[in-house]
Amino acid sequence: EAIEKGGYDHFMLKEIFEQPRSIADSMRGRVNSEEGSLQLGGLSEYMGKLADAKRIIIVGCGTSWHAGLVAEYIFEELARIPVEVEYASEFRYRNPIIREKDFVIAISQSGETADTLAAIQLAKSKGATIFGVCNVVGSSIARETHAGAYTHAGPEIGVASTKAFTAQVTVLTQMAIAVAKKRGTISEGLYRQLLIELENIPRKVEQVLKAADKIKEIAFIFTYARNFIYLGRGLNFPVALEGALKLKEISYIHAEGYPAAEMKHGPIALIDEDMPVVFIATKDSSYEKVVSNIQEVKARKGRVIAIVTEGDSLIHSMVDFVIEIPKTHEILMPLLSSIPLQLLSYYIAVMRGRNVDQPRNLAKSVTVE
Ligand code: G6P
Repeated sequence: EAIEKGGYDHFMLKEIFEQPRSIADSMRGRVNSEEGSLQLGGLSEYMGKLADAKRIIIVGCGTSWHAGLVAEYIFEELARIPVEVEYASEFRYRNPIIREKDFVIAISQSGETADTLAAIQLAKSKGATIFGVCNVVGSSIARETHAGAYTHAGPEIGVASTKAFTAQVTVLTQMAIAVAKKRGTISEGLYRQLLIELENIPRKVEQVLKAADKIKEIAFIFTYARNFIYLGRGLNFPVALEGALKLKEISYIHAEGYPAAEMKHGPIALIDEDMPVVFIATKDSSYEKVVSNIQEVKARKGRVIAIVTEGDSLIHSMVDFVIEIPKTHEILMPLLSSIPLQLLSYYIAVMRGRNVDQPRNLAKSVTVE
């Protein structure tokens, strides 16, 4: 097992550090910015159906559901197709409206999650087209769908999903860019820019990972926190949810992810000098708004850890701890901003003496209801 961990203390840490490669693998043979080409083999036959879809329905569970939420923003922004993201377990039991012109995307690392599989079977029986985004080749979900694109992240052993999440987001982003191009809803300039930025992501992830020691120091300070709040807006809202889930799963600290603007409708009542608040506050279209949300937390003495774009001196001067990540196009930010949150949960859990790779009560894949 020590050999399989490749010198890392845990599979989870190894998998976090594999992300420059796993993200690259999820684009290999698909993106070529020089040629301006973006091809997902499994999608080509179904591209017409996706481009003409009246609606995209995304189903998944856990972290895969969070990848779906990220995709919702990206598909709607770039391709202007309405998207609904559903927990597979809710979808299958509530007599959902499914039409033939609906394009269903099922996301699953393992390809074996019982609720996701059942949701697919239901949608299929109503005539929808089902596309799978799975990591495990030949898995049940991969076989049950009409077509699909593998994430190619490689085996993920740690129960808490890390590299599978970023690979899912990378694949879904490629799908959204490809269909936007097909529908003519993005300019040639933006299309080219996104391809170049995508190719730069693995190198930028490497840069993010250099902050590991700093994140470890921050984790040490918060090891004994009892609660955590994670806040973000836009694309960084699902990142906040995923950050909170990671912390809950492996450290057993209660954590909530919230859209930063919703804070004033409830969670703000929780803020005092003992409450750590993680803001994902990168320079994007909601930056100014997030800055004022940070001020609201600081005014109530919350302790703020902020994930910011490199060179951001304004937030630096306002908060307790800052973790910098490189610039990229706003659409691709979750691929970078989710990584410090994985490391933060990892180090906190290790310092609390938790079984990081196999947390209590959780399974890598839930094949029963
Ligand atoms: C379990 C795992 C999670 C995972 C979820 C969905 O709860 O512990 O890490 O996100 O299942 O799994 P899937 O394989 O369908 O992505």
